[in-house]
Amino acid sequence: MSAVQQLRSAQWYAGQDRNAYIHRAWMRRGVPDDAFRGRPQIAVANTASDLTPCNAHLREVASAVRDGVLEAGGVPLELPVVSLGETQLRPTAMLWRNMAAMATEEMLRANPIDGVVLLGGCDKTIPSLLMAAASVDLPAVVVPGGPMLTGTFRGKPLGCGTDVWRLSEEVRAGTLSAEEFTRSESAMIRSRGHCNTMGTASTMALVAEALGTVLPGVAGTPAPDSRLLEAAHRTGRLAVEMVGADRRPSTFLTKASFHNAIVALAAIGGSTNAVVHLLAIAGRLGVDLTLDDFDRIGSHVPVLADLQPAGRFLMDDLHRAGGLPAVLREVRDLLDPEALTVTGAPLVTHLDDDAVWDREVIRPRSEPLIAEGGIAVLRGNLAPAGALIKPAAASPHLLRHRGPAVVFDSIEDFHARIDDPDLDVDADSVLVLRGCGPKGYPGMPEVSNMPLPKKLLALGVRDMVRVCDGRMSGTAYGTVILHVAPEAAAGGPLALVRTGDTVVLDVEARRLDLDVPADELARRRPNEATLAGFAAPRRGWERLYVDHVQQADTGADLDFLIGSSGSEVSRESH
Ligand code: FES
Repeated sequence: MSAVQQLRSAQWYAGQDRNAYIHRAWMRRGVPDDAFRGRPQIAVANTASDLTPCNAHLREVASAVRDGVLEAGGVPLELPVVSLGETQLRPTAMLWRNMAAMATEEMLRANPIDGVVLLGGCDKTIPSLLMAAASVDLPAVVVPGGPMLTGTFRGKPLGCGTDVWRLSEEVRAGTLSAEEFTRSESAMIRSRGHCNTMGTASTMALVAEALGTVLPGVAGTPAPDSRLLEAAHRTGRLAVEMVGADRRPSTFLTKASFHNAIVALAAIGGSTNAVVHLLAIAGRLGVDLTLDDFDRIGSHVPVLADLQPAGRFLMDDLHRAGGLPAVLREVRDLLDPEALTVTGAPLVTHLDDDAVWDREVIRPRSEPLIAEGGIAVLRGNLAPAGALIKPAAASPHLLRHRGPAVVFDSIEDFHARIDDPDLDVDADSVLVLRGCGPKGYPGMPEVSNMPLPKKLLALGVRDMVRVCDGRMSGTAYGTVILHVAPEAAAGGPLALVRTGDTVVLDVEARRLDLDVPADELARRRPNEATLAGFAAPRRGWERLYVDHVQQADTGADLDFLIGSSGSEVSRESH
């Protein structure tokens, strides 16, 4: 019997009994009888939402997927799933990533579905979809919604996120009026699509392709480009083929796939947020990926994509220059040749025909944007389970540093005091912000790249060492140590730091320490103010999240969501 004759959906539709009658009858509504006889049922898990503006165009993309599914003999079924709009959600979209992943996983398992096409774009949407697909382990393929087109303002291109900070600084400096600032809004968001810098959305789309979960060459196609619809159509056809071949995530996502994703993450100069997302996806698959793998595999890979915030160009330019395959071709020798993709063929075999069409945007290996990209993992008595720094985004003179801590117990405390003229802080100080981890905030917001004190900015200081248990926007940079684990609210030593303690950073030695004797640290009790700020929520998702979320070093997933349950459903209520 072929794989198609053993379709999972036959458990709902095959036979003459009452249950099969109920399942078919309610789905008929004009659907021909053969739809229930051996045709793969392909869900189109769609994160389109008016409140996730970066993904709103996915309705049209879904329609192109449908055409491809039908053409290949499948039955397309649109499944709206939880969608997370990065700019709109309070207190932070990351609080809901695991909820979106859990809800999507459950709906894929509970429905008569044989395979799924995953439509995502805005920061957390592709990670949550991949976490869900990994746990339910049905044939799955991603169509990334693509970046928006480059907007220009006063004759210059605008990068989403990065240029918001630059323009707002111009207003503060008096070189841009408040009216002009407001006028730049529609120039910045010129078209449909997600942020066009190398922020988290762009990073996760490209990393998903390097992982092998996207049709090669598709990630990074701008959202308004008609080739995205063509790719969606081809992906619909591919989903039907994947069901026939029983090509489930567990059959092609291996440690080798994550190796390639880490090489790609470094070569594109991607967001540090990819670390927590990749760890969480690997956790669902049972792949033994650790924080140290990011340092070991990625830290010596050159950054070749000259994109904002580290470089000059935007996603539209990367696509024009050849896209991810052209970047990967430059580092082909660093990729694992065994890692497979949704096509059934290894990733490296898809790189043969690619070329670089603009050497300014995609640099040759001999002239990288940054010689060593990637992420360094620090450990020490301040971060026993690890912390991250992106050395390429840091100031070289701060990579080895000793300085007195200036401690803030929450982001609100930070905002209340950072610009106080009486704050005892200088350029050597280390800004320490706690209470921003997965449990403490809760939801691990992007606050680690704290703005510098105004009085130091006025003196020309442009970077300082900053330490935090939160995350950082993919569009930000500086000498920022983030994802400190365990976080303060989980009893990490960050809770013991006092203003004036000496913090010691040595990136080359991969160390982050507090120069306070161990017996003194043992005597200290966790800072009362941090714990007072951490009031455990009483009910709902926040309660479940705080009770079960794990630390950043393992992906900040919920403890009971680790691993896979597969697609089996053994009971039926009719
Ligand atoms: Fe959606 Fe940036 S806000 S990708």
